[in-house]
Amino acid sequence: MKYTAAADRLRSTGADSWAIYRRAKQMVADGIDVVEMAIGEPDVPTPDFIVEATVDALHRGRTDYAASLGEPNLRAALSARYTRTTGRPITDDQIACLPGTQTALYTVMRTIAGPGDEVILGDPMYATYGPVIAACGATPIPVPLRAERGFRIDPADIEAQITPATTTIFLNSPHNPTGAVLTAHDVRQIGELARNHDVWLVADEVYEELVFAGSTFVSPLADPDFADRTIVLNSLSKSHAAPGFRSGWCVGPAEFCERMRPLSEAFLFGSQPFIADATAVAVQAPSPVAAGMAQRFAARADRLVDALHGQTQLLVNRPAAGMFALVDVSSTSMNGLDYANDLLDNGGVAVMPGSSFGSTLGSWVRVCLTQDDPAFDTGVERIVAHAHANGAGA
Ligand SMILES: Cc1ncc(COP(=O)(O)O)c(C=O)c1O
Repeated sequence: MKYTAAADRLRSTGADSWAIYRRAKQMVADGIDVVEMAIGEPDVPTPDFIVEATVDALHRGRTDYAASLGEPNLRAALSARYTRTTGRPITDDQIACLPGTQTALYTVMRTIAGPGDEVILGDPMYATYGPVIAACGATPIPVPLRAERGFRIDPADIEAQITPATTTIFLNSPHNPTGAVLTAHDVRQIGELARNHDVWLVADEVYEELVFAGSTFVSPLADPDFADRTIVLNSLSKSHAAPGFRSGWCVGPAEFCERMRPLSEAFLFGSQPFIADATAVAVQAPSPVAAGMAQRFAARADRLVDALHGQTQLLVNRPAAGMFALVDVSSTSMNGLDYANDLLDNGGVAVMPGSSFGSTLGSWVRVCLTQDDPAFDTGVERIVAHAHANGAGA
């Protein structure tokens, strides 16, 4: 049978990226002792008040169809939230609600990037960005993120890639997988590039509330000079430990939201009203669980740095935010993929190879910071023992 060009383009994406994770899951199912440090999920349950607001909404019969860009109460709650966090007025018609950042990402990109268009983004990148851009028929233009810069994207590297075909500069701060957080200066410089070259500035901010002490989150949405071209994406998934709620949104110019509406109606026609009610309650104040997660993840990152730098030749990039830390494994003489396979088979720890996130992390692996402390510490001990067995002990 005939399939679309988009289905063909996406056919091989994803499968290899998650091979280690799937293998680790199978090993655990087979009764093999593996510490799972490949995939990160919030380490607390969804707060009770969100669950209760959902149940209450269900009892109130909020199971009808919803408004296609989001229920009015949720758009109002989100506009109030962004007015509070950006310090400038954000109106309800600048909000569009979608099931998770992922769906928002797809719908946004489908609205602003198509065949012949180029989207500039950092490499490494979150694993779904490439497929989303490919699904739209646009071309991803990767800009290498360098360890020497703490993996913060360099505005000069972005500028070097801008062509007449560029429609979008795509940012992810705080960044997965590197944990980098863009500074106010970075955001200002990149915003100026977007304005001077008249392109969109899209920012995935899903780790906004998981910033570690010592770093400050800055959103381009807060800068009125870029208001006509900035679109930010976020959700309850990380900040409120609620990935299964699939409650996400984007914030951008009102005209952009209206132009996106038919696309959203074409595949969704409104999210669930009971999830909208719970989200409206959730976003009224900073998340009660995010600060604790950020503290625990930062403390685990510190323990990883101390153990690996003290006892091995492995090098850790200390993250400034998020759920992950990158480890440079070149001292083992293995590339990241071989190392991750060897560590799983002979060390009993599952980590993601850096190659799952683009072309620049070939000698790195990504370690999750979300396991509870005993499991995390066992995983770190095993990584140390494995390094010693592979000529990378201190
Ligand atoms: C950078 C990044 N963006 C988006 C997502 C997906 O978020 P959501 O659950 O809101 O769709 C993730 C999930 O891991 C992520 O790491």
